[in-house]
Amino acid sequence: MKWKLLTVLFAAMFVLAACGGGGDEGSSGDSGDTSTEEQESSGESSGGEVDSAAAEEAFQANCASCHGGDLGGGVGPALDSVGADMSQDDIVTIIQNGRGDMPAQDVDEQTATQIAGWLAQKK
Ligand code: HEC
Repeated sequence: MKWKLLTVLFAAMFVLAACGGGGDEGSSGDSGDTSTEEQESSGESSGGEVDSAAAEEAFQANCASCHGGDLGGGVGPALDSVGADMSQDDIVTIIQNGRGDMPAQDVDEQTATQIAGWLAQKK
């Protein structure tokens, strides 16, 4: 009799263990999804520092309509080697005051500095 009782207890423990295992699998699956999202978002900023990615984004929003999305020029001159002629400060001045046919750009100083620093590296 005692042995039969033990067998039933063991059987019950296995069933409980199986249920617990199922629950763990579910929660580890959730955390797996989260880490996949993190990997995807860090992949978007690949190809350089976060700052230059932000600067390029601001350039695309404010300057690309005249200077070209690839810096190749358009209404305004090409800027793909502007850093050879101008410093970051020079470019900030042009962004904020305009020059010749280029109107002053309505971007805040931080964004202007960021774009200018990025462009000054184009040599
Ligand atoms: C409305 C069109 C327009 C927009 C928008 C514009 N530019 Fe210009 N940009 C020009 C024109 C036109 C010139 C040439 C000015 C001149 O006659 O000297 C110029 C000149 C420049 C120059 C000097 C280039 C050189 O080789 O002398 C820089 C640097 C420059 N722009 C940067 C920017 C940046 C950065 C932005 C965005 C914040 C921007 N521009 C937005 C039209 C534009």
